[in-house]
Amino acid sequence: MAKPKVYVTRIIPQAGLDMVHAFCEAEVWEGETPPPREVLLEKVRGLDGLLSLLTDTIDAELMDTAGPQLKVIANYAVGYDNIDVAAATARGILVTNTPGVLTDTTADFAFTLLMAAARRVVEAMDYVRAGKWLTWGPTLLLGRDVHHATLGIIGMGRIGQGMARRAQGFDMRVLYYDPYCRREKGAEFGAECVDLDTLLAESDFVSVHVPLTPETHHMIGAEQFKRMKPTAILINSARGPIVDPDALYEALKNGDIAYAALDVTEPEPLPADHKLLTLPNIIVCPHIASASIATRTKMATMAAENLIAGLKGERPPNLVNPEVLESK
Ligand code: DGY
Repeated sequence: MAKPKVYVTRIIPQAGLDMVHAFCEAEVWEGETPPPREVLLEKVRGLDGLLSLLTDTIDAELMDTAGPQLKVIANYAVGYDNIDVAAATARGILVTNTPGVLTDTTADFAFTLLMAAARRVVEAMDYVRAGKWLTWGPTLLLGRDVHHATLGIIGMGRIGQGMARRAQGFDMRVLYYDPYCRREKGAEFGAECVDLDTLLAESDFVSVHVPLTPETHHMIGAEQFKRMKPTAILINSARGPIVDPDALYEALKNGDIAYAALDVTEPEPLPADHKLLTLPNIIVCPHIASASIATRTKMATMAAENLIAGLKGERPPNLVNPEVLESK
């Protein structure tokens, strides 16, 4: 029997690729950057399955270009805002993601950003590299304490809970706001559920952990920065467009908040000449919160498992749109 045809939009860790190659007739885009739109549209024609990345826009046009035989889109990410899930559901296409495996790795990194911003680690390294380190100084590179400070978590899903758990080890007071009202989620970490305005006003660190949806787009903008403490530090390891970048620039420049540490930006990648990068009080990383060897390998095997299950007509373990199966 002919193997199902699939396209993998980037080189993923080998363990996942091996699984895909064993079950499918697979082509892999080997470029360092995502396949251009016109290439992707060409490559999806006649596919049975697609293993996509968060950098690929998977919309109705692409699904229709692929054709009615397209069964499954396996996203190599927990977030799937790059996929028009409603369009996939309407066409009976399964969509999957990679939840769970990256929770601790991403929370580790969000906490790393928090600490690096609080204690000005990147500025300190630049200072040493620039040959400015002349002596020990009583007022040299003073930062802010993390222990006993207040952490405000926006979004108490898996990664938000991971942040709360880490904060306990630093004796932090933890506040959280969850747009989905998961009020019970914070109780085991001694965290207090509050409204967004209270969280913004009382937190020393505000860490964003909601998915990107039309409701969360630019949910942190000029008005929210005005409500924050002038000493506050913003951490975003969720999705760039949750924070309005122009408002963030103004807030950092005018001292509405003290610092930002971002793993995700709008746009992404952030051009090297972007105005945010002219500021001294910001850390920007290239969307690497889940980038540990072990986690990225697990994400690869998980995406491959989801893809193969969908191609076999089985229920993929991490199905985002179960309605597709329910309607069959
Ligand atoms: C995700 O999975 O959504 C992250 O942003 C990348 O691992």
